Amino acid sequence: MTLQAEKVTITVRKNGSLLVTGDVVILDHTGNIIPRINDKPNVALCRCGQSQRKPFCDGSHKMSGFIDPVEPPVAPPAP
Ligand code: FES
Repeated sequence: MTLQAEKVTITVRKNGSLLVTGDVVILDHTGNIIPRINDKPNVALCRCGQSQRKPFCDGSHKMSGFIDPVEPPVAPPAP
């Protein structure tokens, strides 16, 4: 039996966090595992810089009024 790796998906939330779905391990700059703050299968990473629990999102982007600086490019449809 061949094990298939679960595909990891990162969703850029409008004016918010990066939602990571899949079997990922988050490491700090020295290679140590950063424990997750809950048992949810998804993890939201801060990209506004305001979270008090970095690298995780704590919802502070809402209070700080974080706005996406640009719209991400859209990939052309698959052939
Ligand atoms: S993106 Fe949510 S606190 Fe920064």
